[in-house]
Amino acid sequence: MFNNVISNLNIEICILYFMKIHNFCAGPSILPKEVFEDASIAVKDYNNSGLSLLEISHRSHAFVEIMDEARDLSLELLSLDGQNYTSLFLQGGASTQFLMTAYNFMKNEAAFLNTGTWSEKAIKEARLFGNVDILGSSKDDNFNHIPDYKMSKEYDYFHCTSNNTIFGTQINNFIKSNTPVFCDMSSDIFSRKLDFSKFDLIYAGAQKNLGPAGATLVIIKNSLLKNINENTPSMMNYKVHADKSSMFNTPPVFSVYVSLLNMRWLKKMGGITKIEENNRKKADLLYSEIDINPLFKGHAIEKDRSIMNATFTLNNDDFKESFESMLKEANIVALSGHRSVGGYRASMYNAMEIDSVKLLVEVMSELESKI
Ligand SMILES: Cc1ncc(COP(=O)(O)O)c(C=O)c1O
Repeated sequence: MFNNVISNLNIEICILYFMKIHNFCAGPSILPKEVFEDASIAVKDYNNSGLSLLEISHRSHAFVEIMDEARDLSLELLSLDGQNYTSLFLQGGASTQFLMTAYNFMKNEAAFLNTGTWSEKAIKEARLFGNVDILGSSKDDNFNHIPDYKMSKEYDYFHCTSNNTIFGTQINNFIKSNTPVFCDMSSDIFSRKLDFSKFDLIYAGAQKNLGPAGATLVIIKNSLLKNINENTPSMMNYKVHADKSSMFNTPPVFSVYVSLLNMRWLKKMGGITKIEENNRKKADLLYSEIDINPLFKGHAIEKDRSIMNATFTLNNDDFKESFESMLKEANIVALSGHRSVGGYRASMYNAMEIDSVKLLVEVMSELESKI
């Protein structure tokens, strides 16, 4: 079994290869091994200081340096200019951003694109603050595509979800208008090159492509900071956090540090351009198998397929038991789909090596040959 994958490997590497667990979890998810190793050293002894990263003051020189570098590097990786954008590491996850965006910027009416569960949650929170106009929705098709949409008037802001983690769709074309564009990039931040200057506010929970759960990256255009609703409480207020260089209160120090290690890894790898190439190769490999293998069917329509989360089902549930025992044998874990789609979801974030995807494809094709 899996002959193609291992044909060029010697026996020792083969043993290690098969001991490796191939983790396709949607989040919290894999990070590069070297990031985990460096993070574990810092927990025991940060920078040979004799102290753990977890016991030093967030106001110490050592941690302020970490925070400053993490904020700068996040902008650098997205090719955004620090004169025009501010980067913040906040808490409360992307879910807090659903309401924080509205708290700060909803005056009367905002526009939304409804592309799945996370968009719906953002819409629900925004409705607490004002009117919501849904410009497009793919709900009737169980969110298997990105709906067409256009904007015929101005709004306080337009909100979209660039990658729909649960349904496996991804937006390729972002609207241009005079309305500020806010984007939840929780599951595809730093995975592909976009013109990030088209966005006025980007946010992402760290726990997929960035770092451990606990921090939420927010990147906001400085010009927006002048336009914040007056009654916004301090912890909810982007300007308060920006004025305090993301240190208004104690930041999630571990998550920020590990995110920094991961961003350094990404930069060393060649940045977003290089990682996008890898991500597309992995996604092409898996989608090709889904398309040629008669046992499987993809959920998302071809043109809107996500390169991060591929969703697919078995055409016949009679093969479920065999498939799942083969996955187990190959040490492939966390492939179950979300209950809203069923079947399987392969999350192939930046740190996933192509060999893990090759192995999954081998298992799928082996299943076909057994039937
Ligand atoms: C696209 C997207 N937005 C928002 C969230 C919610 O993130 P959090 O758990 O950080 O609030 C998730 C979580 O999976 C997600 O995938």
